[in-house]
Amino acid sequence: MDQEDQKKAVAKAVLEYIPENSIIGVGTGSTVNYFIENLATLKHQIEGTVASSLATEARLKALGIPVFDLNTVPAPVLYIDSADHYNALRQLVKGKGGAFTREKILAAASQQFICIVDESKETAVFGESPIPVEVIPMARSFVGREIVKLNGDPVYRIHTLTDNGNIILDVHNWSITEPIKLEKALNNISGVVANGLFADNPATLLLIGTKAGIKKIS
Ligand code: 5RP
Repeated sequence: MDQEDQKKAVAKAVLEYIPENSIIGVGTGSTVNYFIENLATLKHQIEGTVASSLATEARLKALGIPVFDLNTVPAPVLYIDSADHYNALRQLVKGKGGAFTREKILAAASQQFICIVDESKETAVFGESPIPVEVIPMARSFVGREIVKLNGDPVYRIHTLTDNGNIILDVHNWSITEPIKLEKALNNISGVVANGLFADNPATLLLIGTKAGIKKIS
C-alpha cells in the first residue's frame, strides 16, 4: 500500500468509531477529504457536523451533510482530523493547510479526538518541518522577534490569510524536545492566536494506516 492508499484505508477504518445520532467535528486536508466522502454514506445516521475550515464546510455541504455552527450545538462527541506529524505520545504537529486554529478549537471542544494518519508522518522529535503560528497581522514583526528569542527562524507564509483573517509564520530550525513547553511559550506571546503543536492536548486515539494494515495508539 502506498501513502495515498494508507490515507484511504485509515479514512475508512475510522467510520466504525462514529456513534449514531452524533455531532462530529471534521478536520481539514487530503486524508480528511477521503473521510468526508465516506461520511456521506452515513449521513442519515448522524445528526451533523461542525467544520474546521471553510473548505471542509463546502465539501460537507456539497455532499448533503449538515454543518452546524459550534456555538449552536452541544460539545461534539468526536473530532476527526489528520496531522502532518505524530509521535508515540499521540502529540501532533498540524497546520500545513493553515486551518490549525479552528482545528485546535474543535479538538479542545470535542469529547474525543481521533487522529487519522499514514505511517510516513511518524516523527520522534518535532521540528524537522516548520511549526506554523497564526498571528494577528499587526503583531507580525513583534511576534517574529519573540520567536527568534526562542531560537526559532520564522518565515512569513506569503499570499496566505487564514479563515480568521490572520497571517501565518512558519518556524524553521527547531529541534523540539519539550513540545508542551514550547506550545505554551508560543501561546504566551501577545498577538499569537494559536500554533500547530498539539502536545498539551494530544489525540485521544491515533489510527495509523501502514503497509501492514491499521495500527492504533491509545
Ligand atoms: C491542516 C492539517 C492537516 O491535518 C495536515 O496538514 C495533514 O494533511 P493531509 O491529510 O493532506 O496530509 O493540519 O491544517
